[in-house]
Amino acid sequence: MKVISGPASKELAEHISALTGFDNIPVASKVFPDGESYVRLEGDVKSENVAIVQTTCPPMQDGRLFQLAFIADAAKRGGASKVTAVVPYLAYARQDKTFLAGEGISVETIARMLKASGIDELITVNIHSEPTLKQFPFPAKTLSAIPLLAKYFVNKGFKGAFALSPDKGAMYIAKQAQEVLGGDAGHLNKQRDRYTGQTVQTAEGLNVKNQTVIILDDIISTGGTIVGAAKILREQGAKHVFCACVHGLLIGDAEKRILDAGVEEIVGTDSVPGNISKVSLAPLLSQELRSQK
Ligand code: R5P
Repeated sequence: MKVISGPASKELAEHISALTGFDNIPVASKVFPDGESYVRLEGDVKSENVAIVQTTCPPMQDGRLFQLAFIADAAKRGGASKVTAVVPYLAYARQDKTFLAGEGISVETIARMLKASGIDELITVNIHSEPTLKQFPFPAKTLSAIPLLAKYFVNKGFKGAFALSPDKGAMYIAKQAQEVLGGDAGHLNKQRDRYTGQTVQTAEGLNVKNQTVIILDDIISTGGTIVGAAKILREQGAKHVFCACVHGLLIGDAEKRILDAGVEEIVGTDSVPGNISKVSLAPLLSQELRSQK
């Protein structure tokens, strides 16, 4: 297998190559003056299974999706036998159903576009809703980075911390973290108005008094969910509040608003490279690629 370094995940791809020993193929990329993307593989892929590592987080998630598709096409034209897309953050994964009349299912459209470009298989990390993947036109799998995030806090001396999910539907995240942290786990309740996007959070039967609490979520976007959760935890007498997410999009001033809300540290992964990406997905993705080379 060879690992192709998508422009959005160059460091992660190189890290995966270093861990697996698979050759790394760089990609030259540029944006034309009119905004269109260009990519070129700088290595031979003939008769190889290749893994293209390319996250599709903001900014320019559409451009990153196009880069991914163009790389897949280049790989197939170059004679690659099998093209696996390793897409830690899959853009549009939250539009996975028609919530309101007249909407489409964006993530399924994206999957069909990727299939048409030459992708044979997809690996992502903590997709918002796993059943989505069953609708994709190729085998698709999601891995969980939650144990790695929980381990980060264990290594910092927070074994026994309370694992909190900000939403009942994401309780599986708190449970995965709990297995590593060894403390209690629980969730808040969150309801979203589908027209305004506004959410209301409540806590029922939660006891976090004097506890160190780690709020864990798949995505932090505007930060509103974490800010609301932190406020509730402070009201309930939590001693320390941290937060961890797989995909730290941190749109606008989200990071500042979360810290201002009393969260002591925000921890994310290199799914979204940036200030808070303190945990690498490379070991998780390397293990998966090694198992299927
Ligand atoms: C949605 O249900 C997700 O799991 C996240 O909780 C959500 O995307 C976070 O968004 P925001 O940071 O804008 O509140």
